[in-house]
Amino acid sequence: MEKPKLTIDEMAVFCKRKGFVYPTSEIYGGIAGFYDFGHLGVELKNNIKNEWWKAFVQQREDIVGIDGSIITNPMVWKASGHVDGFTDVLVDCRKCGSRFRGDHLIEDKLKISTAGMSLDEIAKEISRHKIKCQKCGSELGEPKKFNLMFATNIGPMQASSSAAYLRPETAQVIFTNFKLVQENARLKLPFGIAQIGKAFRNEISPREFLFRMREFEQMEIEYFVHPEKQEDCPYIDEILDYELNVLSADMQKQKKKMQKMPIKECLNKKIIKTRWHAYWLATMHKWFADLGANPEHFRIRQHVKDELSHYALDTWDLEYEFPFGWKELQGLSNRTDFDLKQHMQHSKTDLSIFDEETKKKIIPHVICEPSQGVERAFLVFMFDAYNYDKKRDNVVLKLHPKLCPIKIGVFPLLSNKEDLVKKARDVYNELVKEWTCTFDLSGSIGRRYARADEIGVYACVTIDFDSLEDNSVTVRSRDTTEQIRVKIKELKEILRKFLDGEKLGKLGEKVE
Ligand code: GLY
Repeated sequence: MEKPKLTIDEMAVFCKRKGFVYPTSEIYGGIAGFYDFGHLGVELKNNIKNEWWKAFVQQREDIVGIDGSIITNPMVWKASGHVDGFTDVLVDCRKCGSRFRGDHLIEDKLKISTAGMSLDEIAKEISRHKIKCQKCGSELGEPKKFNLMFATNIGPMQASSSAAYLRPETAQVIFTNFKLVQENARLKLPFGIAQIGKAFRNEISPREFLFRMREFEQMEIEYFVHPEKQEDCPYIDEILDYELNVLSADMQKQKKKMQKMPIKECLNKKIIKTRWHAYWLATMHKWFADLGANPEHFRIRQHVKDELSHYALDTWDLEYEFPFGWKELQGLSNRTDFDLKQHMQHSKTDLSIFDEETKKKIIPHVICEPSQGVERAFLVFMFDAYNYDKKRDNVVLKLHPKLCPIKIGVFPLLSNKEDLVKKARDVYNELVKEWTCTFDLSGSIGRRYARADEIGVYACVTIDFDSLEDNSVTVRSRDTTEQIRVKIKELKEILRKFLDGEKLGKLGEKVE
């Protein structure tokens, strides 16, 4: 029997205790919404980003990547609409001065969704339900809009002419480079431009550990199509039978529950309007499932009308059932030609491309923008991997082998026998050329296995007295604790196959 899933606070404690994530600058009391990744966290985070980059950039002909700067000309954010419209509703306590997000106050008190609520509606709900300060219980002030962009200054001047912003999304650098990238990479529609990088949002109330941070990383794709060929998705057959839990805007209006259905049904019933949107929703869901996340913990939810961002015609979120409810993991918006047109107008630069077929200039549409927070993906993989194994009386972190921060542990059976330690060190030195490995000498072999299981080490290699005689070692599986005996000269090949998903029992002689 497994223990129930962790709470988000328990996950934060586990991440800190094992070296995945620390509250930043904790020795000075920390600072809300900012976190540091420890020696295991950085490996997991890099693995997530590498898998995403491989799947969506390096292994696709139709997508290329860029890496843009965090600070841009501030005109970018005027054109994009963020200066005027990237806001949340802020409510101050009249007495203690604590600051809250208006929609969160309502969600916490009334346990209802605030999706799409305007400033006025939030103000009315707070007043109607006499919602008070969550810290001191006093009267709250008038709700007002608060812009989420972090402002900074460039150079030594503190003048308004040197004002700039830390980017609140990676998307805009893709739009401002659109023409250069399209021409230099000789991209033909449909195509995508992807980016992984930091983004910053001055959240009023960062909370739920890595879920809502002020500094975070995004993995985004802007996928461009011909404005008159928005239905031509050459990959649609790949995902027509793919099933996911669906909650459309209509279903939400009618207070219906999510329903599991294949993509072809979503398209036939026009629940998802375009094939590209359907393709990207299924593809992103599949990316998580292929990397070991439990598909039943996901659903796709369409934004209700008032919830849509200023740039979006239609948005579906890929949501995950966190311990604190269903929440956005990834937003997939149809941004139309909004951004390219805005930048054309504000920069007075032609960002249209020439259509060989019609011999006309066209402005491509972003039919879908899959936008993923790296840290939210990090949380998903951690929650779905975390298992308490009653028999072992130990946590086993069952991360997919591609994501494991440390793939292999190498242990001499006894740490006080010089010849065992030397042989184990030789094995470690060889394996570490290919994989992240740990070499552990401290405590009993059982204790070392338990420590390795807890941080998700996929395979353990143990060197014992027989190894000195016959050059064989024991390989143990994290997930089953099954062990096989293999020759050292075959060890790398066997580990390669095991890490690739083959069953351990099929790769060597079982050890009882
Ligand atoms: N680019 C979409 C977002 O950052 O939410």
